[in-house]
Amino acid sequence: MYKTHTCGEIRLAHAGQVVTLAGWVHRRRVHGGINFIDLRDRYGLVQVVTDPVQFSDAHQGINDARPEWVIQVEGLVRPRPEGLANPNMETGEIEVVAQHVRVLNAAKTPPFQIAVEEEVDETLRLRYRYLDLRRERLRRNLLLRHRMIKFIRDFLDGQGFMEIETPILFKTTPEGARDYLVPSRVHPGEFYALPQSPQQLKQLLMVAGVERYFQVARCFRDEDQRGDRQPEFTQLDIEMSFVEREDVMALVEEMFTKLVAKVVPQKRLLSSPWPRLTYQEAMARFGKDNPDIRYGMELKDVTDLAAGSGFQVFEGTAASGGLVRGINASGLGDYSRKQIDELTEFVKKYGAKGLAYYALPTSGEARSSFAKFVKPEVMQAMLERLEAKAGDLLLFVADQPAVVCEALGRLRVLLAERLGLADPNVLGFCWVIDFPFVNWNEEEQRWDPSHHLFTSPMAEDLPLLDSDPGKARGQQYDLVLNNYEVAGGSIRIHDRALQEKVFKLIGLDPDVARERFGHILEAFEYGTPPHGGIAPGVDRLCMILADEANIREVIAFPKNQNARDLMGGAPSPAEPKQLKELHIKLDV
Ligand code: AMO
Ligand code: AMP
Repeated sequence: MYKTHTCGEIRLAHAGQVVTLAGWVHRRRVHGGINFIDLRDRYGLVQVVTDPVQFSDAHQGINDARPEWVIQVEGLVRPRPEGLANPNMETGEIEVVAQHVRVLNAAKTPPFQIAVEEEVDETLRLRYRYLDLRRERLRRNLLLRHRMIKFIRDFLDGQGFMEIETPILFKTTPEGARDYLVPSRVHPGEFYALPQSPQQLKQLLMVAGVERYFQVARCFRDEDQRGDRQPEFTQLDIEMSFVEREDVMALVEEMFTKLVAKVVPQKRLLSSPWPRLTYQEAMARFGKDNPDIRYGMELKDVTDLAAGSGFQVFEGTAASGGLVRGINASGLGDYSRKQIDELTEFVKKYGAKGLAYYALPTSGEARSSFAKFVKPEVMQAMLERLEAKAGDLLLFVADQPAVVCEALGRLRVLLAERLGLADPNVLGFCWVIDFPFVNWNEEEQRWDPSHHLFTSPMAEDLPLLDSDPGKARGQQYDLVLNNYEVAGGSIRIHDRALQEKVFKLIGLDPDVARERFGHILEAFEYGTPPHGGIAPGVDRLCMILADEANIREVIAFPKNQNARDLMGGAPSPAEPKQLKELHIKLDV
């Protein structure tokens, strides 16, 4: 037997017992001729000490060992001497006196320290991911992820859900990104597509009569990487039959409320039940459809005041169908001109042409880039609308609605970070509903589904599909948490005629539609129950619960920003023989 106990489990109650432990040398120090090491395994750390007189071989063994060597120690558990207990260590009341030591494997000096919680260059961390995973931060994150998924599986099982695996080698299941293709050897010139989500398959499982399905499902999307996106990621994929929007939302709300209480009890929910925002409301108040609702600093519309303000920029924007909105960054009234210029540069990245400001220092005269152009009574009304007081900095953007929302929405997040407005221990879940059913794609001059092809329009908006599609709302719901979209779902179309109509609306050629989605259209003709579902992003949710800023920190073997695996070296060139078998000629 390699170990009788784990390093992390030894307590005072074990004093007097001889235990066998195995693990890694975490830290090592020498004090007055005695060697001390912290021995680490997955479950924790324990202090091992040597007795050079009584157990000189063991003393020598530990003396030779270096950090990250794998050793086995047999020794006697004893209480630490008076006053030497370490309250910061779970095993801090005891130590193990080594009687026999066996080196199981020596280790090279690692490229970064495992025992020290210091910043390490991420490229190095990803290259030696197996070492990084030994460190406390990632160990904790993986454990949290495991607990989350375990909780979810148990919860859904208790609610009558069945976990079913769906294929990875399938056909395009579009969610708006590019597909990863896999060439077929046996069918020259043909390809599988890795699923962007199991969307079609889970709907087909509803046709199959499963009624309540879930899967911890891997999804693949070839899209630009960001902190909250990976080319392959995990969804908690859920689909239910005989449900309406409310049923799906209630299930998810109950599941995550209980999950938080169980898995991250140190965190609290901002409110319960979770607030609901319509898409319009989210855009109007926060400038984005995945808002952080833990703090105020909401966008305020002043387009009506701008119209007759006397300030050319504002009037012109209002007259051309644009918006003028502002936020009150309370506490930044003493910002210098230079600091405000930096904010102006920030919003310009998002298309804003400028950032008009009105700064009220804690004492002294207000400063403004545009007040001199504005009628005094209008300026007064704007100040009132933004509830301005001494110490506030008001910032306005005038532009087309999309630009105003994006610029101010992002500025709000940036300034809230600087002001420390968001309590990291609060989880601000909210639902966003009533999304537009389709969005106009200016470039390609056609309608794009705002969620995906299979989302049902609101029943009462069906006539709008013919008259004014842009006004129709979809039966879509997004779950948002602290500035991230953590889940998206919808009630689906379950009628062939409506599905074909939607394909037509979004300009999908009928032949292409039949080729790509014929199987689902056909299935709809064999008795399809009304159904709907949702898919929380497991990585994103875990990232937020773990207080991390990047989903790479909660994925065991992630890809870097360029979709590369730096450890395994993927992607990599294929052998000429493989390419030949796959009937592929390279053109690079
Ligand atoms: P959607 O495309 O909104 O919906 O995806 C659901 C959730 O998955 C997460 N997510 C991602 N996480 C990490 N990296 C990515 N590249 C990535 N892309 C998405 C997000 C998102 O909210 N089939 C539908 C669901 C349904 O209708 O039931 C779907 O995939 O948290
Ligand atoms: P100007 O008259 O161009 O000097 O602009 C006066 C102020 O209005 C400056 O602070 C500009 O940054 C700001 N400004 C210009 N265009 C816009 C706009 N579209 N939205 C908000 N502020 C603007």
